[in-house]
Amino acid sequence: MKKYDVIVIGSGPGGYVAAIRCAQLGLKTAIVEKYNTLGGTCLNVGCIPSKALLDSSEHFYNAKHTFADHGIQTGEIKADLTQMIARKNKVVEQTCSGVKYLMDKNKIEVLEGIGSFKDKNIVIVQSGKNKKEIEGKNIIIATGSKPNYFPGMEPDKKRIITSTEALSLTEIPKKMLVIGAGVIGLELGAVYKRLGSEVEVIEFAPKILPTMDGTISKEFTKVLKKSGFKLHMEHKVQKVENKGKEVIVKALNKKNEEVELKGDYCLVAVGRKAYTEGLNLEKAGVKANERGQVEVNDQLQTSSPHIYAIGDVVRGAMLAHKAEDEGVFVAELIAGQKPHINYNLIPGVVYTWPEIASVGKTEEELKAEGKEIKVGSFPIKALGRARASMDISGLIKVIADKQTDEILGVHMISARAADLIMEAVTAMEYRASAEDIARICHPHPTYSEAMKEAAMAATEDRAMHI
Ligand code: FAD
Ligand code: NAI
Repeated sequence: MKKYDVIVIGSGPGGYVAAIRCAQLGLKTAIVEKYNTLGGTCLNVGCIPSKALLDSSEHFYNAKHTFADHGIQTGEIKADLTQMIARKNKVVEQTCSGVKYLMDKNKIEVLEGIGSFKDKNIVIVQSGKNKKEIEGKNIIIATGSKPNYFPGMEPDKKRIITSTEALSLTEIPKKMLVIGAGVIGLELGAVYKRLGSEVEVIEFAPKILPTMDGTISKEFTKVLKKSGFKLHMEHKVQKVENKGKEVIVKALNKKNEEVELKGDYCLVAVGRKAYTEGLNLEKAGVKANERGQVEVNDQLQTSSPHIYAIGDVVRGAMLAHKAEDEGVFVAELIAGQKPHINYNLIPGVVYTWPEIASVGKTEEELKAEGKEIKVGSFPIKALGRARASMDISGLIKVIADKQTDEILGVHMISARAADLIMEAVTAMEYRASAEDIARICHPHPTYSEAMKEAAMAATEDRAMHI
């Protein structure tokens, strides 16, 4: 039986990054993946394909709606969904084969098959009829997550779909019903809205992106409504039915009245759940909690200390960069180092247009903690750069400690926010004050000036351009 220092189960951003770091640190490493492409949810049916379609649909939207204002004349603009999906598939293929290249480069053995525990050190790899056993001194569970749904809204993957099917539709829906105004619902809803679908979102909570800062949620609600999204807030979905060419969603509104909505597709986007099926955790003495997540301590060790778990399969944000950082953390821990992750500084990004990005605590969270804070915000429309590019929606909000001026949270809705947020993450990692940001020279004309102005507004109410 082949023996390894580390066996990683699952090749998503958590697993493959853990494997690379293990190999870099001189550990003999194998990675087990049940599919024949590496990269997990993120590369195959998550981050990368969704961003590819978001970019294509944004180009289409601009060609149709903003090029003329920029003085660009075009002929008839048509959306070719088949080509969009084909391009997306090519991007996915290239990205996944990049992971295979990295595995080979780092001499990591890739084993295709379903990994399951025989005992605390032996992993069975089953691929069709082929069965192999391998032994690991340490094992990292990185098996990720799958789409969640509640009774009555089971996806049939034809008209009642999850994000996976929404990334490969063969026609542009006439009307897409979306259950859940979270990240997936709004990103993929935006793709099809831009391509011409009517989009109606049914959300249980009183605000969209319920875990984000309230100001951002409010501002984005305005943007969505202006672009034609219909939002049904505080609606409890009871039943979703595929009636052939039509899908019917029945929900209860705030007044407990039954509401019936019709469309040709219904995207169920009500969160994701940890995936541990087939792993036989109990054979390795690994415990899962009541939500199905693998239970870990602060060192990401399971109830069997040489078995670790990372990424979507454990508690915390279900984000690729969180999974990656946990992968590096565990590899370094196994190699005897003392790594650290600051969970408060994991940024969250929604890749709509404008983009939304956030780091640290929200105003609501800080108020609930009884923290005394100062808030400064700056509207994007006041920036010269925004007027030049015609992307004028949004704002940047900086929240600082009232006494010390330390930045506690930054929330933005703006063109390019996905990249702008890193200034805030870096500043907060070094425990910068709002005044530190206000005194740093920011290039003109850029969207980053809104960060400086919001910091000026937070530090002593001295934003200059409003
Ligand atoms: P996964 O990526 O889920 O990988 C787990 C892997 O383990 C899979 O390949 C699976 O096949 C394999 N596996 C499972 N069980 C076994 C087994 N028994 N044996 C062998 N292999 C097994 N996050 C972001 O940060 N940014 C984004 O823009 C973003 N966009 C997203 C868009 C969509 C539509 C979706 C669905 C998700 C998105 N996410 C995004 C979330 C991101 O994809 C996940 O947080 C990330 O993939 C988690 O990584 P992971 O390594 O923990 O698990
Ligand atoms: P989510 O947790 O972001 O949103 C789910 C939404 O559904 C919430 O607003 C919730 O209130 C609502 N909801 C729950 N039950 C409901 C019900 N019965 N009826 C109506 N609404 C209901 O989950 P989502 O969008 O499915 O995404 C899953 C995960 O994938 C997220 O945790 C996210 O971290 C990750 N992801 C990240 C992306 C990014 O970083 N840009 C993009 C896409 C996904």
